[in-house]
Amino acid sequence: MSPGLFALARTVVTAASVAVTLSIATAQTPAPQPATEEDADKLLEKYRAMISDPMSNPGYLAVDTGETLWTTARGPKNATLETCDLGKGPGTVDGAYAELPRYFADVGRVMDAESRILWCMETIQGIDTTPIRKKPFASSGGNPATEIEALVAYVANKSNGMKYAARMEHPKEREAVALGEALFYRRSSLNDFSCQTCHGQEGQRIRLQTLPFFDSPKAAQATMGTWPTYRVSQASLRTMQHRIWDCYWQMRMPDVGYASEVTVALAAYLTKKAEGGTIEVPSIKR
Ligand code: HEC
Repeated sequence: MSPGLFALARTVVTAASVAVTLSIATAQTPAPQPATEEDADKLLEKYRAMISDPMSNPGYLAVDTGETLWTTARGPKNATLETCDLGKGPGTVDGAYAELPRYFADVGRVMDAESRILWCMETIQGIDTTPIRKKPFASSGGNPATEIEALVAYVANKSNGMKYAARMEHPKEREAVALGEALFYRRSSLNDFSCQTCHGQEGQRIRLQTLPFFDSPKAAQATMGTWPTYRVSQASLRTMQHRIWDCYWQMRMPDVGYASEVTVALAAYLTKKAEGGTIEVPSIKR
């Protein structure tokens, strides 16, 4: 626990013991009220502020690893990824993430950062990405980011401070957004949940986690502009692909395919909703 967290924990404990002492001392007066929702929100806000120090964000380790992977000659073709076209022409990484997902004419489909980087690894470096697709996420608990997570962190960080500028004008892009929207509202599986069930109302919470309401442009922007993120609770860097996979798991759906059409469509739909938002990555979250 960081000194800051200790301080917060101490404040909470101290406040609680003061309250107990007071209630014993003044047995006639009503017992103290439990913390209100507003208090909880304020404490959470304080906690978020404490973990948001970019200078101590372990997510930047992944960014550095990603840069090394990007510029190191690897694979059967012994090539670097420096000629990878992320949409702004071969070799341009700056600002590319801000325009993803997007349509790529060379493959005839819409891709997000993950699917495009994998494609570059296959075509430029000759790497078989099957094992990466099978285990794309680092296990929780302080493990270093996987190759693909690190590469996404590096590419995304090169759009840091920029505004989301995914155009979604190409017919295939519009198709992806429409598919993402349909999927967002589609109820299924054991609980008959859709994404909308948990993210379709302002102010919904699961335990202490506020669930973003994506119809609010502000919430959509704050959410989408902050992935990849370093998840403190998992001690791992996480990308949007992981978030969508995790939410499908929460819906008790079968594992959603990594970098699949479904995940890219959902990312396209949510990115469209976040239009105009600023990218601040890697962020750090609960
Ligand atoms: C059972 C409830 C539930 C459902 C259904 C659900 N989610 Fe989530 N979602 C969560 C929880 C819980 C979080 C994490 C909140 C936290 O830890 O702060 C979350 C977080 C997210 C985030 C990141 C929010 C942030 O603050 O950065 C995104 C994006 C997201 N969900 C998308 C989806 C999509 C897309 C679907 C449908 C495929 C979906 N969710 C379905 C519960 C749900």
